[in-house]
Amino acid sequence: MTDVEKNAARPVVSLEHARKSFGEAEVLRDISLSVSPGEVVAIIGPSGGGKSTLLRCLTLLERLDDGSLSYGELPVASGGAYGDKNALAAARSRFGLVFQSYNLFPHFSVLRNVMDAPVCVQGRPREEAEAEARALLAKMGLAGCEDKVPCQLSGGQQQRASIARALAMHPQILYFDEPTSALDPELTAEVLRVIKELAAESMTMVVVTHEMAFAREVADRVIFMDGGVIVEQGSAEQVIDHPREARTRAFLAQRGA
Ligand SMILES: Nc1ncnc2c1ncn2[C@@H]1O[C@H](COP(=O)(O)OP(=O)(O)OP(=O)(O)O)[C@@H](O)[C@H]1O
Ligand SMILES: [Mg+2]
Repeated sequence: MTDVEKNAARPVVSLEHARKSFGEAEVLRDISLSVSPGEVVAIIGPSGGGKSTLLRCLTLLERLDDGSLSYGELPVASGGAYGDKNALAAARSRFGLVFQSYNLFPHFSVLRNVMDAPVCVQGRPREEAEAEARALLAKMGLAGCEDKVPCQLSGGQQQRASIARALAMHPQILYFDEPTSALDPELTAEVLRVIKELAAESMTMVVVTHEMAFAREVADRVIFMDGGVIVEQGSAEQVIDHPREARTRAFLAQRGA
């Protein structure tokens, strides 16, 4: 195998036997998950099933109690023991995270929201970061909004600005935690369209979503999580249209999928 082939085969992120408890409650119970370059994974499941906790562990906002995590060739945690500050910083540069609430800096302009971290965290030249930020905002349909502050944008526009902000860091993988659940249907469609475009450009993504139609359309793999475990996973066709497990069927029936 050449180096190129090896890298192509290597998952962008790999989590093995992850466990996480809050007090007495075990919220992740032996979760293993690898995401390949260019893959789009949708995570579905009932409230409290551990979806956000899984994303928070993958993005180092929470620490695993046990299990291992690596980004490509970079080890992050092994047997629940984490690498040093430099290892964590290197891993953090590999991913972007978009939450349900857009959490843009309210007192920064939209442009500054997008270019601030590339300049201040990555030390990129200001002009280059600004040009890229403007291009990303245009791509997200936000040309003309550069000098506004977030509260002057609709929820859907703010969410697209946060996607631009995440992309400005050149992540290898983007995580979304229910990116549209705070939006009404029209604004949801705008945000989903942008995520579909990124999927078409082979961006590697993990999307926690309640939008079954969207999962069916863009996901290469759908994971159904409940009670801190992966109950089943497979193509959208398999998991959403022909679920094997009773728990998956009950969830989908309740959602009218
Ligand atoms: N910081 C925390 N401290 C204590 N318990 C927590 C914490 N974060 C999550 N939990 C608990 O862990 C469980 C899983 O929560 P999580 O937010 O991961 O679920 P979810 O699948 O994202 O649900 P939802 O669909 O409602 O967003 C829940 O019982 C929740 O109360
Ligand atoms: Mg959640």
